[in-house]
Amino acid sequence: MRVSIFGLGYVGCVTAAGLAKAGHEVIGVDVNAEKVAMINRAVSPVVEPGLADLLAEVVKGGQLRATVSGEEAVRHADLALLCVGTPGHANGEQDLDAVQRVGTEIGQALRRRPQPYTVVLRSTVLPGTIERVLVPSLLAGAGRARGSWLRVAVNPEFMREGSSLRDFAHPPFTLVGCDDPEAASPLRSLYAGVDAPFVHTTLRTAEMVKYVSNAFHALKVCFANEIGDVCAAAGVDAHEAMRIFLMDRKLNVSEAYLRPGFAFGGSCLPKDLRALLYAARTTDISVPLLSAILPSNGGQIHRAAEAVLAARKRRVGVVGLSFKPGTDDLRESPMVALVEILIGKGCEVRILDRNVSIARLIGANRRYIEEEIPHIASLMCDDLGVLLAHAEVVVIGNSCEEAARALAAASPSHVVIDLTRAGGRQPLEADREVSV
Ligand SMILES: NC(=O)c1ccc[n+]([C@@H]2O[C@H](COP(=O)([O-])OP(=O)(O)OC[C@H]3O[C@@H](n4cnc5c(N)ncnc54)[C@H](O)[C@@H]3O)[C@@H](O)[C@H]2O)c1
Repeated sequence: MRVSIFGLGYVGCVTAAGLAKAGHEVIGVDVNAEKVAMINRAVSPVVEPGLADLLAEVVKGGQLRATVSGEEAVRHADLALLCVGTPGHANGEQDLDAVQRVGTEIGQALRRRPQPYTVVLRSTVLPGTIERVLVPSLLAGAGRARGSWLRVAVNPEFMREGSSLRDFAHPPFTLVGCDDPEAASPLRSLYAGVDAPFVHTTLRTAEMVKYVSNAFHALKVCFANEIGDVCAAAGVDAHEAMRIFLMDRKLNVSEAYLRPGFAFGGSCLPKDLRALLYAARTTDISVPLLSAILPSNGGQIHRAAEAVLAARKRRVGVVGLSFKPGTDDLRESPMVALVEILIGKGCEVRILDRNVSIARLIGANRRYIEEEIPHIASLMCDDLGVLLAHAEVVVIGNSCEEAARALAAASPSHVVIDLTRAGGRQPLEADREVSV
């Protein structure tokens, strides 16, 4: 394919060289004439292992050249990849000037073009940026209304400097976001030679995935460093502890615990986290990340309470009281905390949880229920119909069987707040295995 690449920094150069090596005919564009001249002399404008050799090969082979003229690049191809910088201001806000300028420039070159042109943003941008910034600048530059002449997509780059050529050739996936399926098809052809699953999703989701990934990578680094500090203070070899920790691919390095839902609870996680924080405190180790976990968890409970109270209705029916389905253990259940807040705010709460009801009858957790939370136990009811007749607001607390039945039976007059965010689906097998 013939493809143009706007922005010849780290991402643009690696993308240009990688696609040229894959057999595509590539033209690179940059406002920096020095970078353009360097590429045309087959010299890499950035330091990156292997890039100088690859650029020399593809430039000398005639598969890659560069220009300062956006118009020339647009004429060259039916598809443009935008790799311009999106630096951050001190307050975190993104500087989108380059995205806007390049959009206007491409738009100007498309003023009279009849056939469709595909503009693909490869830079990292927050959800909504393509629709809010790139598309308006393309339309303003072209002086045309939106139509079939323009297709837009986002194709975030997941390479890391230092290993970017390898990352480009073997990414975890090729991610393409576009709301128009037509825009995805040239990208399938472009990346046909890349050894990775092709993932097509919406524009906003693809924009977001890059941030989800980078936030998680940053979180992992700080988690490992804080654990390392606590280990050192406790006289534990942190590398050995993490080596063994990483061997657990079921719970530790896996899909487990990574589905947005409600707060955690139970008899172990909160208690053990508090013990770890205590150990850090008593050895004067600062662990701001670990210290933020319980407040973050509590924030989920308060947000849920606010959502219920915002309905401005007093009669609340809660389905699922334990911290996860399939248990009667109510110790540190976030649902118990939620119910306590709602009672305190004057709500009339009724609760349905089959496991907890059975426990009250046959005594598995009876003592805890009767002695520790009698104020909650007295709110239990055994029948979904009775609960729904009482409730104006229905709160789904965990993905138990009754949750799916409650969601199906709720009437349009009920305000339904599904804290599991699973829409009544039973938990996946991976989640069932998760036991706290
Ligand atoms: N560097 C990385 O490892 C990496 C990895 C993944 C994603 N990203 C994202 O990719 C994007 C690019 O990152 P980078 O590190 O390659 O940036 P960079 O600053 O190295 O390169 C950006 C290039 O765009 C050029 N440019 C600016 N305005 C232009 C215009 N109107 N027309 C043509 N060229 C223009 C600049 O001259 C510069 O050469 C950013 O959004 C970044 O967050 C970077």
